[in-house]
Amino acid sequence: MNEPKRILLGVSGGIAVYKSAELVRLLRKQGMEVRVAMTAAAAKFVTPLTFQALSGNAVHCDLLDAESENAMDHISFARWADLMIIAPATANLIAKLSHGLADDLLTTLYLAATCRVYVAPAMNQAMWSKPVTQENIAALRRHGVHLIGPAQGEQACGETGFGRMSEPQEICAALLTVSSGLCLQGLKVLISAGPTREPLDPVRYITNRSSGKMGYALAEAARNAGATVTLVSGPTQLPSPEQIDLVRVETAAEMYDAVITRAENHHVYIGAAAVADYTPVEVRPEKIKKQDEQTTLALHKTKDILAEVASLRVRPFTVGFAAETTDLEAYALDKLARKNLDMIAANWVGQAQGGFDSEQNALEVFWKGGRETLAMTGKNRLAELLIGLIAEILKAKV
Ligand code: PMT
Repeated sequence: MNEPKRILLGVSGGIAVYKSAELVRLLRKQGMEVRVAMTAAAAKFVTPLTFQALSGNAVHCDLLDAESENAMDHISFARWADLMIIAPATANLIAKLSHGLADDLLTTLYLAATCRVYVAPAMNQAMWSKPVTQENIAALRRHGVHLIGPAQGEQACGETGFGRMSEPQEICAALLTVSSGLCLQGLKVLISAGPTREPLDPVRYITNRSSGKMGYALAEAARNAGATVTLVSGPTQLPSPEQIDLVRVETAAEMYDAVITRAENHHVYIGAAAVADYTPVEVRPEKIKKQDEQTTLALHKTKDILAEVASLRVRPFTVGFAAETTDLEAYALDKLARKNLDMIAANWVGQAQGGFDSEQNALEVFWKGGRETLAMTGKNRLAELLIGLIAEILKAKV
C-alpha cells in the first residue's frame, strides 16, 4: 500500500465525537488531507462547522444532497480516499456496517470504499460485551476491517470497562504506522498460534486455554506490514485469516514438524502458541475405563519447538512468548538466554485480564540490550505494536 495522504473520516453519533475533532487536527498536523462525513446523530454532538474549520474542507452529511453530489458524488468521494477511518463507530453503526446496510452517506461510503478501512468503536461497556456486538465485530474483522481499540476505562455514562474510544493520539499513531510504510515488506514470517491437543484415548485429550487470538492477530499484523505469512495453528474457533498460509495441526509433535520443516525458509519466527510441555507416554486405542479412586497419567516431555528453531544452522529472527503467573521478568529473561532467543514477549496469565482467551493483553518485551512495555490494549493493536518493534530491532541488526 502507498503512503496514505488522503484520509476519509467517518463520524457517527456518540459522545466521543469531540475526540474526533482532535483527531482531525492531529492528522492535518501530519500533513494529511482530511475529509469528513458525519451521520445525522454525530452532527447533534458536534456541529459540521467544527469539522469544516479543522479539516479545511466542506463536511458531508447527506446521501441525497444535490449540491455536494454535484461537487463530488459519493462513489468518487469513497474512491478519493487512501484510507478510511470511522471514529467513533457506535454499536448501531457497527451493526449496519457488518450487515452491509447503506441507508445514509457514511454507510454508503463504507460500502463503496475500496481502500483500507479502520474502525474505532465507542460505546457503553455492556453494549460492547453483548454477544451480538461481538459477532458484528468478528464479521467486520472477517471482511478485512482493522479495529483500533476500544480502550478500557471510565466511560461518559459513569461505568467502567471496555468500550471507550481510543485516544486521538493512539488512533493517529495507528494510522501513521500504516503510513510509515510496510515495515516487513519482502520478509517471510512464520507464526505459531493456539493450543495443542495431546490425546489420551479416542475421546480425551490434554489441552490449555489458548484461543489463538494473540497468534492470529500477529499473523494479520505481519501480513498488513507487508510480510508473507505462514501461520501454524493448533485447534481454534477462529476463522482462517485472508492472504495467510494457514497450516492446521493438533498435537505438539505435529506443530514441531510443521514449524521445523519451514523455519529455515523464513526470516522471522514468532512462537505465540501454547504448546503442551508434556504429552501422554501412551495413547490408548480404547476409551480408558473408570476404575480406581485415583489414577496416574504417565507423561513425557515434548520437544521444545522454540529452542530448536533458535538452534537451527540458518535460523530466523526468533521471538518467543513467556506465559507466567509469577516472577514474569526473571522467567522471561531466563527463557531469552537459555533458549538463545532474539526477543521474548512476556505476558501475565491466569489473571482476570489479558493472557489466555481474552480480547486484550499486555506484554513486557525483552531483547539483548533493550526492553519495552506494551500496555494493556486489544490484541490486534498489541500485535501491530509488537510487529513494529520486531521490525525496528531487525532493522537495527542489519
Ligand atoms: O491464544 P490466546 O488465547 O490469545 O492467548 C495468548 C497466549 C497467552 C497463549 C500467548 O500470549 C502466549 O503467552 N503464548 C505462549 C504460551 C506458552 O506456552 O508459554 P510458555 O512460557 O509455556 O512457553 C515459552 C515459549 O516456548 C513459547 O513461545 C512457546 O510457544 C514455546 N514452546 C513451549 C513448549 C514447547 N514444547 N515448544 C515451544 O516452542
